[in-house]
Amino acid sequence: MGASSGLGAALGLKHRERGDGVVALGRRGTRLAQLGDISNAYPGTWESVAADLTDPQGFTSCVERASTCDRVYLCAASNGDVEETMNLNFIVQARLAVALDRPGLRLVVISSLAAKVVFKEMPHYCASKAALEHWIAGHRQGASASIIVVRPGQFDSEFHTGPRDLRIERLPHERASEVARVADGRSEGTVTLGGLRDRVAAAVAGAIGPVNARRVL
Ligand SMILES: NC(=O)c1ccc[n+]([C@@H]2O[C@H](COP(=O)([O-])OP(=O)(O)OC[C@H]3O[C@@H](n4cnc5c(N)ncnc54)[C@H](OP(=O)(O)O)[C@@H]3O)[C@@H](O)[C@H]2O)c1
Repeated sequence: MGASSGLGAALGLKHRERGDGVVALGRRGTRLAQLGDISNAYPGTWESVAADLTDPQGFTSCVERASTCDRVYLCAASNGDVEETMNLNFIVQARLAVALDRPGLRLVVISSLAAKVVFKEMPHYCASKAALEHWIAGHRQGASASIIVVRPGQFDSEFHTGPRDLRIERLPHERASEVARVADGRSEGTVTLGGLRDRVAAAVAGAIGPVNARRVL
Protein backbone atom coordinates (compact mmCIF):
# COMPACT_ATOMS: atom_id res chain seq x y z
CA MET A 1 0.00 0.00 0.00
CA GLY A 2 1.62 3.27 -1.13
CA ALA A 3 3.53 1.71 -4.04
CA SER A 4 3.51 4.53 -6.59
CA SER A 5 6.61 6.28 -5.23
CA GLY A 6 9.44 6.10 -2.73
CA LEU A 7 9.93 3.07 -0.54
CA GLY A 8 6.72 1.33 -1.64
CA ALA A 9 7.64 1.59 -5.33
CA ALA A 10 11.17 0.29 -4.68
CA LEU A 11 9.78 -2.60 -2.61
CA GLY A 12 7.34 -3.49 -5.40
CA LEU A 13 10.16 -3.60 -7.96
CA LYS A 14 12.38 -5.59 -5.58
CA HIS A 15 9.72 -8.27 -5.10
CA ARG A 16 8.92 -8.46 -8.79
CA GLU A 17 12.65 -8.86 -9.50
CA ARG A 18 12.63 -11.78 -7.06
CA GLY A 19 9.86 -13.44 -9.08
CA ASP A 20 7.01 -12.60 -6.70
CA GLY A 21 3.53 -11.52 -7.73
CA VAL A 22 3.06 -7.87 -6.74
CA VAL A 23 -0.20 -6.03 -6.11
CA ALA A 24 0.73 -2.33 -6.14
CA LEU A 25 -1.70 0.12 -4.54
CA GLY A 26 -1.85 3.91 -4.56
CA ARG A 27 -4.02 6.74 -5.86
CA ARG A 28 -2.04 7.38 -9.07
CA GLY A 29 -3.01 4.57 -11.43
CA THR A 30 -0.89 5.88 -14.31
CA ARG A 31 2.21 5.92 -12.13
CA LEU A 32 1.53 2.36 -10.93
CA ALA A 33 1.09 1.23 -14.54
CA GLN A 34 4.35 2.97 -15.49
CA LEU A 35 6.16 1.03 -12.77
CA GLY A 36 4.50 -2.18 -13.97
CA ASP A 37 5.73 -1.53 -17.54
CA ILE A 38 9.25 -0.76 -16.39
CA SER A 39 9.45 -3.97 -14.38
CA ASN A 40 8.17 -6.13 -17.25
CA ALA A 41 11.70 -7.48 -17.65
CA TYR A 42 11.42 -9.14 -14.24
CA PRO A 43 9.90 -12.62 -13.83
CA GLY A 44 7.20 -11.75 -11.29
CA THR A 45 3.76 -10.37 -12.07
CA TRP A 46 2.45 -6.86 -11.42
CA GLU A 47 -1.10 -5.72 -10.78
CA SER A 48 -1.91 -2.05 -10.27
CA VAL A 49 -4.79 -1.03 -8.02
CA ALA A 50 -5.61 2.69 -8.11
CA ALA A 51 -7.45 3.54 -4.89
CA ASP A 52 -7.49 6.14 -2.15
CA LEU A 53 -7.15 4.50 1.27
CA THR A 54 -8.94 7.41 2.95
CA ASP A 55 -12.02 6.85 0.80
CA PRO A 56 -14.37 4.07 2.06
CA GLN A 57 -14.70 2.50 -1.39
CA GLY A 58 -10.96 2.72 -2.01
CA PHE A 59 -10.23 1.21 1.40
CA THR A 60 -12.55 -1.73 0.70
CA SER A 61 -11.04 -2.47 -2.69
CA CYS A 62 -7.51 -2.35 -1.22
CA VAL A 63 -8.50 -4.78 1.53
CA GLU A 64 -10.20 -7.11 -0.94
CA ARG A 65 -7.23 -7.11 -3.28
CA ALA A 66 -4.70 -7.62 -0.47
CA SER A 67 -6.65 -10.49 1.06
CA THR A 68 -4.74 -13.10 -0.96
CA CYS A 69 -1.28 -11.59 -0.42
CA ASP A 70 1.07 -13.32 2.01
CA ARG A 71 2.98 -10.12 2.75
CA VAL A 72 1.67 -6.57 2.94
CA TYR A 73 3.83 -3.47 3.39
CA LEU A 74 1.95 -0.50 4.87
CA CYS A 75 3.91 2.35 3.24
CA ALA A 76 1.32 5.06 2.55
CA ALA A 77 1.87 8.19 4.64
CA SER A 78 1.51 11.94 4.43
CA ASN A 79 2.71 15.04 6.26
CA GLY A 80 -0.24 17.41 5.90
CA ASP A 81 -2.52 19.04 8.44
CA VAL A 82 -3.30 17.28 11.70
CA GLU A 83 -6.55 15.60 10.53
CA GLU A 84 -5.13 14.32 7.23
CA THR A 85 -1.91 13.10 8.83
CA MET A 86 -3.52 11.34 11.81
CA ASN A 87 -6.13 9.81 9.52
CA LEU A 88 -3.83 8.31 6.88
CA ASN A 89 -0.77 7.54 9.02
CA PHE A 90 -2.60 6.21 12.06
CA ILE A 91 -6.34 5.55 11.75
CA VAL A 92 -6.27 4.09 8.23
CA GLN A 93 -3.20 1.94 9.05
CA ALA A 94 -4.85 0.63 12.23
CA ARG A 95 -8.05 -0.18 10.33
CA LEU A 96 -6.00 -1.98 7.67
CA ALA A 97 -4.20 -4.05 10.32
CA VAL A 98 -7.59 -5.16 11.66
CA ALA A 99 -9.21 -5.75 8.26
CA LEU A 100 -6.28 -7.74 6.89
CA ASP A 101 -5.55 -9.79 10.02
CA ARG A 102 -5.35 -13.55 9.37
CA PRO A 103 -2.94 -16.41 10.01
CA GLY A 104 -0.18 -16.64 7.43
CA LEU A 105 -0.03 -12.91 6.71
CA ARG A 106 3.21 -11.05 7.35
CA LEU A 107 2.29 -7.40 7.90
CA VAL A 108 5.17 -4.96 7.58
CA VAL A 109 4.24 -1.64 9.17
CA ILE A 110 6.50 1.18 7.97
CA SER A 111 6.96 3.59 10.84
CA SER A 112 9.65 6.19 11.48
CA LEU A 113 12.14 7.33 14.04
CA ALA A 114 9.61 10.16 14.40
CA ALA A 115 7.61 7.75 16.58
CA LYS A 116 10.32 8.19 19.20
CA VAL A 117 12.08 11.45 18.36
CA VAL A 118 10.23 14.78 18.19
CA PHE A 119 11.02 16.85 15.10
CA LYS A 120 9.64 20.31 15.68
CA GLU A 121 8.93 20.89 11.95
CA MET A 122 6.49 17.96 11.81
CA PRO A 123 4.56 17.49 15.07
CA HIS A 124 1.49 15.87 13.41
CA TYR A 125 3.68 13.34 11.61
CA CYS A 126 5.57 12.48 14.82
CA ALA A 127 2.29 12.08 16.72
CA SER A 128 0.83 9.87 13.98
CA LYS A 129 3.80 7.50 13.99
CA ALA A 130 3.93 7.40 17.81
CA ALA A 131 0.21 6.60 17.92
CA LEU A 132 0.60 3.91 15.27
CA GLU A 133 3.48 2.16 17.06
CA HIS A 134 1.68 2.30 20.39
CA TRP A 135 -1.53 0.98 18.85
CA ILE A 136 0.33 -1.85 17.07
CA ALA A 137 2.00 -2.86 20.36
CA GLY A 138 -1.44 -3.56 21.80
CA HIS A 139 -3.02 -4.97 18.64
CA ARG A 140 -0.26 -7.48 17.91
CA GLN A 141 -0.88 -9.31 21.21
CA GLY A 142 -4.16 -10.71 19.94
CA ALA A 143 -3.43 -10.66 16.20
CA SER A 144 -3.24 -13.74 13.98
CA ALA A 145 -0.85 -12.16 11.48
CA SER A 146 2.85 -11.68 12.21
CA ILE A 147 3.54 -7.99 12.50
CA ILE A 148 6.91 -6.33 12.02
CA VAL A 149 7.42 -2.61 12.54
CA VAL A 150 10.27 -1.08 10.53
CA ARG A 151 11.65 2.43 11.00
CA PRO A 152 13.49 2.76 7.70
CA GLY A 153 15.63 5.86 8.41
CA GLN A 154 15.80 8.86 6.11
CA PHE A 155 15.90 8.48 2.30
CA ASP A 156 15.11 10.66 -0.71
CA SER A 157 11.45 10.44 -1.85
CA GLU A 158 8.37 12.45 -2.76
CA PHE A 159 7.67 12.64 0.96
CA HIS A 160 10.37 15.33 1.11
CA THR A 161 10.01 16.92 -2.35
CA GLY A 162 6.33 16.55 -3.28
CA PRO A 163 5.20 14.82 -6.50
CA ARG A 164 7.86 14.56 -9.20
CA ASP A 165 8.54 12.63 -12.41
CA LEU A 166 9.33 8.97 -11.95
CA ARG A 167 13.02 8.18 -12.21
CA ILE A 168 13.76 4.61 -11.33
CA GLU A 169 17.35 5.37 -10.34
CA ARG A 170 16.11 7.84 -7.69
CA LEU A 171 14.00 5.26 -5.85
CA PRO A 172 15.45 4.07 -2.52
CA HIS A 173 16.45 0.61 -3.79
CA GLU A 174 19.07 -0.07 -1.10
CA ARG A 175 16.65 0.87 1.67
CA ALA A 176 13.97 -1.33 0.11
CA SER A 177 16.40 -4.27 0.04
CA GLU A 178 17.12 -3.74 3.74
CA VAL A 179 13.41 -3.57 4.59
CA ALA A 180 12.67 -6.70 2.53
CA ARG A 181 15.55 -8.53 4.25
CA VAL A 182 14.12 -7.62 7.66
CA ALA A 183 10.69 -8.86 6.57
CA ASP A 184 12.21 -12.10 5.21
CA GLY A 185 14.08 -12.83 8.41
CA ARG A 186 11.74 -11.77 11.18
CA SER A 187 8.16 -12.47 12.11
CA GLU A 188 7.78 -9.91 14.89
CA GLY A 189 9.41 -6.97 16.65
CA THR A 190 10.48 -3.43 15.79
CA VAL A 191 13.58 -2.73 13.73
CA THR A 192 15.32 0.63 13.35
CA LEU A 193 17.36 1.00 10.13
CA GLY A 194 19.25 4.05 8.90
CA GLY A 195 22.49 3.88 10.82
CA LEU A 196 23.96 4.17 14.27
CA ARG A 197 22.57 7.66 14.95
CA ASP A 198 19.00 6.47 14.39
CA ARG A 199 19.48 3.39 16.55
CA VAL A 200 21.06 5.40 19.38
CA ALA A 201 18.24 7.98 19.21
CA ALA A 202 15.62 5.20 19.31
CA ALA A 203 17.36 3.51 22.25
CA VAL A 204 17.67 6.76 24.23
CA ALA A 205 14.03 7.65 23.55
CA GLY A 206 13.01 4.12 24.53
CA ALA A 207 14.77 4.59 27.87
CA ILE A 208 13.78 8.13 28.78
CA GLY A 209 10.77 8.95 26.58
CA PRO A 210 10.49 11.16 23.47
CA VAL A 211 13.58 13.25 22.74
CA ASN A 212 13.84 16.38 20.61
CA ALA A 213 15.90 16.63 17.45
CA ARG A 214 16.94 19.78 15.62
CA ARG A 215 16.49 18.35 12.16
CA VAL A 216 14.91 15.38 10.47
CA LEU A 217 17.11 12.30 10.71
N1 LIG B 1 11.33 9.31 3.25
C1 LIG B 1 11.84 9.24 4.46
O1 LIG B 1 12.88 9.85 4.76
C2 LIG B 1 11.18 8.39 5.51
C3 LIG B 1 11.82 8.25 6.75
C4 LIG B 1 11.23 7.46 7.73
C5 LIG B 1 10.02 6.81 7.47
N2 LIG B 1 9.42 6.96 6.25
C6 LIG B 1 8.16 6.26 6.02
O2 LIG B 1 8.30 5.41 4.89
C7 LIG B 1 7.01 5.24 4.25
C8 LIG B 1 7.12 5.55 2.77
O3 LIG B 1 7.50 6.91 2.65
P1 LIG B 1 8.12 7.52 1.31
O4 LIG B 1 9.19 8.47 1.74
O5 LIG B 1 8.43 6.44 0.36
O6 LIG B 1 6.87 8.41 0.84
P2 LIG B 1 6.29 8.81 -0.59
O7 LIG B 1 7.33 8.74 -1.64
O8 LIG B 1 5.59 10.11 -0.36
O9 LIG B 1 5.22 7.67 -0.86
C9 LIG B 1 3.99 7.61 -0.19
C10 LIG B 1 3.09 6.67 -0.94
O10 LIG B 1 1.81 6.65 -0.29
C11 LIG B 1 0.79 6.76 -1.28
N3 LIG B 1 -0.38 7.42 -0.71
C12 LIG B 1 -0.43 8.64 -0.11
N4 LIG B 1 -1.69 8.92 0.25
C13 LIG B 1 -2.45 7.84 -0.11
C14 LIG B 1 -3.83 7.54 0.00
N5 LIG B 1 -4.69 8.40 0.56
N6 LIG B 1 -4.27 6.36 -0.48
C15 LIG B 1 -3.40 5.48 -1.06
N7 LIG B 1 -2.08 5.71 -1.18
C16 LIG B 1 -1.62 6.89 -0.72
C17 LIG B 1 1.44 7.60 -2.39
O11 LIG B 1 0.85 7.32 -3.65
P3 LIG B 1 -0.28 8.20 -4.38
O12 LIG B 1 0.13 9.64 -4.21
O13 LIG B 1 -0.24 7.70 -5.77
O14 LIG B 1 -1.53 7.84 -3.66
C18 LIG B 1 2.86 7.05 -2.38
O15 LIG B 1 2.93 5.90 -3.19
C19 LIG B 1 6.05 6.16 5.02
O16 LIG B 1 5.36 5.42 5.99
C20 LIG B 1 6.97 7.15 5.71
O17 LIG B 1 6.39 7.68 6.87
C21 LIG B 1 9.96 7.74 5.27
